[in-house]
Formats: sequence, structure tokens, C-alpha cells
Amino acid sequence: MLTDTHCHLFYSDLKKDIEGVIKRANELGVTRFICVGTNLDDSAECFDLAKRFDSVFGTAGIHPHDAKDAPENYIEKLSELLSKAKMAAVGEIGLDYFRNISEPEIQRTVFREQLELSASLNMPIVFHNREADEDTVRMLEKHGPGKGIAHCFSSTIETAERFMELGYHISFSGNLTFKNSHLPEVAAQIPLDRILVETDSPYMSPEPYRGKPNEPGRTRYVAEKLADIHAVSLETIAEITSANAATLFGY
Ligand code: NI
Repeated sequence: MLTDTHCHLFYSDLKKDIEGVIKRANELGVTRFICVGTNLDDSAECFDLAKRFDSVFGTAGIHPHDAKDAPENYIEKLSELLSKAKMAAVGEIGLDYFRNISEPEIQRTVFREQLELSASLNMPIVFHNREADEDTVRMLEKHGPGKGIAHCFSSTIETAERFMELGYHISFSGNLTFKNSHLPEVAAQIPLDRILVETDSPYMSPEPYRGKPNEPGRTRYVAEKLADIHAVSLETIAEITSANAATLFGY
């Protein structure tokens, strides 16, 4: 069995046929899903989905793009959601200096406050980092809980090593399969006990579906690529990455 450690099941492309999405994933061997929130409303939807499906766990957090719209009491609201059953991590949090949809300073404040929340709750985080390696490492070092996931990892091996030294896991998404990607070289150097797989669906479809709406079942293609890179069987990758996820999320 495979675990998709990062999907956004509440987006309409997936939500409109959620039963079908889960059934197709199961047929591809993907049997567990971490539904990752990006703001208060969709984090509440993650909780609803976790209640509805045994195989779904949720997270709650404010994405860097949404940081500018976080209400004053968002930490209190997140704590409430995170106290519920099957809510497994604080996320999606982080920094995105590529798009800067929220001002960098607001992004840093909201990231720091959520890192402090996760540390106080002793919960893992799911973090996003785009063109913000230095600040992300610095803030994790200072405020982080020391456990969690560098989601859709796209950076260098040096950054991966710094994340791992701080206690974090590295999760690969569909971009691992893209032609001319530098990521296979990075993934080859990550020990299997630190690796996870994900789709980030409905985004980031792997080859041969690049550019199309993504589904959690396609974790399978990311895992197959990773099996090739590490010269092990798909079953080995499935077993190890699912065990890594179970330990991390504590289910
Ligand atoms: Ni995401």
C-alpha cells in the first residue's frame, strides 16, 4: 500500500467525484491520504473528509499565499481544529518568494507563529518552500518542532541535507518524473528512511499526465520512479514510505 502524504481533496476537481478519486487510487495501490489544508475553511474541510473516510487524515494550516488573509484569531482556530481526531499535522505552512502572493514579511510572521504552534502542540509540520531556502532553514532551526515534511521538494541536495539535519523528511511529487529534472539526482542521495511520496493533487501531475489535473492515485508513478532511482522494488518503496508516514503522523 502507498500513502499520498500531500493532496488537496477539497478542490472542486477532486471533491466533485471524491468516491471515484479514492476508488481509482485504491486500484493503483494508494490506500492512505493526507489531505492538507491551506486556510481555515479548507482545513475544516480536511477534517470533514477525515471523518467521512477511514483512509483520510487531515492537516490544518495557513499557506504562505493565504497568509495575508489570515484572521487575527487564526492560531486559536487552528488549535481547535488540530485538537480533533485524525488531524495529524500543522500545514501547509511555509514561504514562497517565487510568487510572493503575500508580502514576505507577512509570510514570515504567519510561518513563525505556526511553527511555534506546532512546537507547543508537539505536532509535525508540512511545509512549502519556494525560492526561500535560507529563511526556511533559519526559521525551522529557531522555531520548528523538529519533525515534519519538506513537501514537493524541488531544491538542492545541500538544502535537503540541512532539512534532514534538523529532523525533517523529504517528500517527492510529480516533478520527480519530469524530463531533465535535477530531482532524481537529489532523491538518489536521500536515505530511504527519510523519503516520502505525494501528489500535491490536483497540481503537479507526474509523467505521462504532466499538465493535466492530478489525482492521489498517481502517487504510484512517483513511487515507481523512486524505486528505479534507488534500484529497489515498488513494494519496498511502498512499504518504507508508508511506514515513514505512519510514524511521522502517529497513526
Ligand atoms: Ni500543496
